[in-house]
Amino acid sequence: MSETPWLEHQILVIVGTGGVGKTTVSAALGLEAARRGKRVLVLTIDPARRLGDALGIELGHEPHSIPGAVLRAAGIEASGEFVAMMLDTKQTFDDLVRRYSPDEEALERILTNPIYQNLTDALAGSREYSAMESLHQLHSAGEYDLIVLDTPPSSHALEFLDAPRRLTGFLQSDLLKLLFRPALALGRTGFRLFRFGSATVLRALEMVTGLGFLRAISDFLLAFESMLEGFTERARATEALLRDPICGFVLVVGPDPEQARRAEDFWKRLQQERVHLLGLVMNRVRTWPGRGRTPELGTAEAKQLTEQLTKELAKRDPGFEPEQAARELVATLTQQALLARRDAEVGARLEEAIGLSPEAVRKIPLFSEDVHALEGLRRMASHLFEEARDV
Ligand SMILES: Nc1ncnc2c1ncn2[C@@H]1O[C@H](COP(=O)(O)OP(=O)(O)OP(=O)(O)O)[C@@H](O)[C@H]1O
Ligand SMILES: [Mg+2]
Repeated sequence: MSETPWLEHQILVIVGTGGVGKTTVSAALGLEAARRGKRVLVLTIDPARRLGDALGIELGHEPHSIPGAVLRAAGIEASGEFVAMMLDTKQTFDDLVRRYSPDEEALERILTNPIYQNLTDALAGSREYSAMESLHQLHSAGEYDLIVLDTPPSSHALEFLDAPRRLTGFLQSDLLKLLFRPALALGRTGFRLFRFGSATVLRALEMVTGLGFLRAISDFLLAFESMLEGFTERARATEALLRDPICGFVLVVGPDPEQARRAEDFWKRLQQERVHLLGLVMNRVRTWPGRGRTPELGTAEAKQLTEQLTKELAKRDPGFEPEQAARELVATLTQQALLARRDAEVGARLEEAIGLSPEAVRKIPLFSEDVHALEGLRRMASHLFEEARDV
């Protein structure tokens, strides 16, 4: 595990299964880095636009800097700069094609190709690939001290790690070649497929789809072939970047046992992938108010507490039945204590299972409402960084 403090990395990749709080944690980390004087970019691909919502802005493919005055109004004195950006998969691909196309004609052919237009959205992992690609590009540009990458809710949460490999693998795949080589070999003018091995497949396809479709595929692959080398090279560089010590991974996990179990598997997979794991953010942890130990509220204690509360409430003429109110309040407290103890146990078990030191684990309580404004993010950051704690 890396000894470098989290915010001293150049890249932080925030991973975890769906809905655990990756986007919110990414924003909170970014905010804290900006508070400490860094120029930071939080990069999200969350199609639900949650980062924009949390920051109260409309986010797009262009970097959006949050003005110092807006941060100050939320009580954040940032000597650095906080920039947010929501990736657009299609635009990232277009940028790539622009970079690697050998000439204007090839560029135009690709961008207007219907197959390309559909493929970029449909291709498995294209969203993950686009994230990795943008990360590489933005990091190389060197404009930011820190880039926080909020990874998308993937069905398989590790998809983005081998997305570059998978995409180039797909483009070079034997299946594609087998199907379309004949068309490629003939080029765009001599478009006759039937003499070749895969002719039957193609003829069947053509009967269903018409010649236009096949021509579009052939065109697409022809144009793409010229860029494949660039893509492959880039994929290699991106993979290397993800394993460089300047890039740290943070795993976000919810407190329930099933999520903890999945997080354990996830952590082990990341270890196998030889990325630099920094630690764990345990989010939405139910806590007992204050810093003391969570009390054991047994039947005797609960009964005593109910009696005391009943007396107190009766004194104040609250306009409701004091004993019933006291009983319900104590039941809520008992439940809270139970949940707090359970979450603490789940956390301790997970920490032990993956062998983490206490400083590698940050706990964020379950807030009573969604974290949807800068104030909320600041509050979350204060839990992530003990020294900034102000609650
Ligand atoms: N500690 C917390 N207390 C209360 N609400 C929280 C907390 N953390 C996150 N939330 C809320 O939970 C919701 C989901 O969080 P978030 O969008 O960050 O999750 P995610 O892991 O990015 O989800 P996805 O996998 O869909 O991208 C948001 O509405 C957020 O405000
Ligand atoms: Mg998200």
